[in-house]
Amino acid sequence: MKPLKTIVTAIVLSTITVLSFTTHSDELTSPDKRISLGLTATEEVEFLSEMRQMLTSIQGILEGIGEEDRVKIIKSARYSGNRMANETPDSIKKKTPGSFKEIGGSTHMMFEELVIRAEDDDMETLTTFTSDLMKKCLACHAMFKVN
Ligand code: HEC
Repeated sequence: MKPLKTIVTAIVLSTITVLSFTTHSDELTSPDKRISLGLTATEEVEFLSEMRQMLTSIQGILEGIGEEDRVKIIKSARYSGNRMANETPDSIKKKTPGSFKEIGGSTHMMFEELVIRAEDDDMETLTTFTSDLMKKCLACHAMFKVN
């Protein structure tokens, strides 16, 4: 009994040592310093699909500005506004920290603001606003990664 117990203890201890060493060295050597959201594979698919929709929105907005097509700008911006925020699965919302929600929430709000602005603002102002909106994309991308 005793030798077996000793062997088991030794295995457990060495496993813990290896694991903690791995984690530790990963943190020290990883060149990627962004905060991980720790999403599951399914959540990642959903999340990244929302991201690609936001890129589609930006493309549509710029196309709309180029063509002075207010309806196209409004339709494209609406796609990534509050509707998208409400459709984000709860399991993902639970995992995201406050700083992430702050940037994410204000990004969706800016898409909603663009929907309203697109009714009257001139195209130059809309371009500047879209560029400001995209600073949110950059800020969040610099800070977070999915896993
Ligand atoms: C609140 C945070 C946040 C905001 C705001 C944000 N993103 Fe992202 N986005 C992410 C994260 C996290 C990833 C995954 C990065 C990784 O894991 O390397 C990502 C990935 C992406 C991807 C890659 C999708 C894929 O299939 O791999 C695209 C495209 C993208 N974002 C577009 C945008 C655009 C356009 C905006 C602004 C209109 C935006 N994102 C705003 C957090 C954000």
